[in-house]
Amino acid sequence: MIRLIDVYKEYDNGTKALKGVNMRIDDGEFVFLVGPSGSGKSTVIKLITGEIAATEGRLMVNGYNLNNIAPRQIPYMRRTLGIIFQDFRLIEKKTVYENLAFVMRAIGASNRELRRRIPYVLQLVGLEQKADRYPGQLSGGEQQRVAIARALVNNPSMIIADEPTGNLDPQRSLEIMMLLERINELGTTVLVVTHEEELVNKFTKRVVAIQDGRIISDETGGYYNGEKI
Ligand SMILES: Nc1ncnc2c1ncn2[C@@H]1O[C@H](COP(=O)(O)OP(=O)(O)O)[C@@H](O)[C@H]1O
Ligand SMILES: [Mg+2]
Repeated sequence: MIRLIDVYKEYDNGTKALKGVNMRIDDGEFVFLVGPSGSGKSTVIKLITGEIAATEGRLMVNGYNLNNIAPRQIPYMRRTLGIIFQDFRLIEKKTVYENLAFVMRAIGASNRELRRRIPYVLQLVGLEQKADRYPGQLSGGEQQRVAIARALVNNPSMIIADEPTGNLDPQRSLEIMMLLERINELGTTVLVVTHEEELVNKFTKRVVAIQDGRIISDETGGYYNGEKI
């Protein structure tokens, strides 16, 4: 579960990115976080992942209180999250299989666990035939599916995707969203950040809309301006 209580974020240069944000995401939910460029979406994500700290307010992430978390606990908190970025961030010199093996080894998984888990997640994202390819040999949509597999491979309770379809065409974008929907149906909480209204409106999900650092609506099946579809 994620909770933000009266969260403010002011960056060092004085930019007030968040102005009192309250948000709760329960386990098992699928949530779109939408809003125009500069509205504070990535700031919310960076606060949840612990990349930056809030100026004021309280944050709870999957049982960890980020206001008083010990630095040595932060890696354990992050393991509860699988994070996906717009630009994929795969290791170009490693194959698809090795990209996934790398993050499993980082948490001490055995070779036996790798051999069991990696084929499963690659099959889930439809890339079981491409395990030996390098990222440069894959399309953008396929690379993003590798990034999703990598985010899932250590079995996080929640997937967070910040503009995951920003580099993809509309058809590939829809496929990625449908894959995230499927992953949610299998039990993982999903938080997807996007500014693509049209894509959001193809689904009937909870939509939290942020504008100028404030939540302006939070409705299931609604969007952006608080208007129902
Ligand atoms: N590291 C930073 N330093 C100063 N200002 C920042 C920084 N990161 C983001 N901002 C500013 O904070 C506001 C919110 O940014 P961001 O959360 O990235 O918005 P979004 O992801 O919705 O486009 C914007 O005005 C942006 O310019
Ligand atoms: Mg952003």
